[in-house]
Amino acid sequence: MERFRIRGGRPLRGEAEASGSKNASLPILAAAILAGGVSHAWRVPDLRDTNTILGLLGEFGVKTREESPGRISLDATNITGGVAPYELVQAMRASILVLGPLLARFGSARVSLPGGCAIGARPIDQHLKGLSAMGAEIQIEQGYIEARSRKLTGARISFDLTTVTGTKNLMMAATLAKGVTVLENAALEPEVVALADLLNRMGARVSGAGTPVVEIEGVDSLAGYDAAVPADRIEVGTLMIAAAITGGDLRITDCEPEQVHALALKLSEAGLEVSEGADWIRVRGDGSVRPVNVKTAPYPGFPTDLQAQFMALMTLAGGTCVLTETIFENRFMHAAELARMNARIHIDGRTAHIEGVAHLAGASVTATDLRASASLVLAGLAADGETIVRNVYHIDRGYQRLEERLRELGADIRREVES
Ligand code: EPU
Repeated sequence: MERFRIRGGRPLRGEAEASGSKNASLPILAAAILAGGVSHAWRVPDLRDTNTILGLLGEFGVKTREESPGRISLDATNITGGVAPYELVQAMRASILVLGPLLARFGSARVSLPGGCAIGARPIDQHLKGLSAMGAEIQIEQGYIEARSRKLTGARISFDLTTVTGTKNLMMAATLAKGVTVLENAALEPEVVALADLLNRMGARVSGAGTPVVEIEGVDSLAGYDAAVPADRIEVGTLMIAAAITGGDLRITDCEPEQVHALALKLSEAGLEVSEGADWIRVRGDGSVRPVNVKTAPYPGFPTDLQAQFMALMTLAGGTCVLTETIFENRFMHAAELARMNARIHIDGRTAHIEGVAHLAGASVTATDLRASASLVLAGLAADGETIVRNVYHIDRGYQRLEERLRELGADIRREVES
């Protein structure tokens, strides 16, 4: 097990280039299954989750190779049947993204049902409902989804709630279906748009991505792609909050500022100076932060994936505020750990009441999930004294070399093996 040791109190300054997005690269890599040839993905972040999906693709006969750092070739010419085992799906729920492409290309798939996870129950009923409507026969046997279909057929599917991965999974399945599929109440997230763009480059006919109604006209086959993964808006947002919480000045480049607009607005309300250009955003702080209320919402609202990090910032605000989590039912695990660092947070269901304190105190804390661990690192960067963040494998799921990047920006942070 590894941990981070952080000595807080150093303002972060300088420039950082955004990495490729975790949540965009996972479906982009899974989409290689659809191609009867070789695909090339670049700017793929080197993360535990991207390595997990590459391992999973290997199980299904996709030959993957890292040609140079961040550039992966994926040869799906000779795809075979295989199993997405419980260990992988439980470790990374986005493994379910292979279900739609496998059914569409291979005609059958065996994928473990994901269990609950640290942030909520996270069912996949909407994925299964959509695939059934497209003619797949789906059975659940001994914890596995057994799905079969000779040829998927287009259908009109209305999601009961907006689901990001559900939208991506059905969009991929529909590309090779017979006829037209219409997805209503589709997710609007930029990662859905990035996937639609990629599928169209492969020869698919997808329109309306980024709006609530996505239409997919099935085609007979798709070609391999050559595409870059877009910037990780959650990493960008996390760095923006790192500048804010340390009273620093960071310019993040190679990103898409409109994708972090909701956060930029809240940081401005909190008194930070935020400026942006076409592909960069800069956050400057002086150490003082005003309290602002935040309610998470699907895109373009305030992302649930930045709620924990924003909470860390609000623990140091000059007053009280309320954070409301509307996407996941159990995404406040970081609050109890932040409280160990002197934060004053009262949780009431999906609402957190935060009373800002003048100083956080370094402590030994334990990461419970990816974004929760990022919030503890941010708190540690601002806290007096030394903070130890344990279980950093959660961070490695979604942030590429986070401690090295923070160190380059002036942080005193290092990775250690727990004795
Ligand atoms: N839901 C259902 N049924 C379904 C699908 C979803 O009830 O069939 C519920 C979920 O339980 C949740 C809500 O709908 O309460 C939204 O879930 P969604 O399916 O949109 O989430 P996801 O696709 O599983 C992705 C990101 C998450 C991010 C959410 C929300 C990936 C790989 N994951 O998850 O990212 O929080 O969208 O924006 O894209 C992270 O990166 O830390 C992370 C958790």
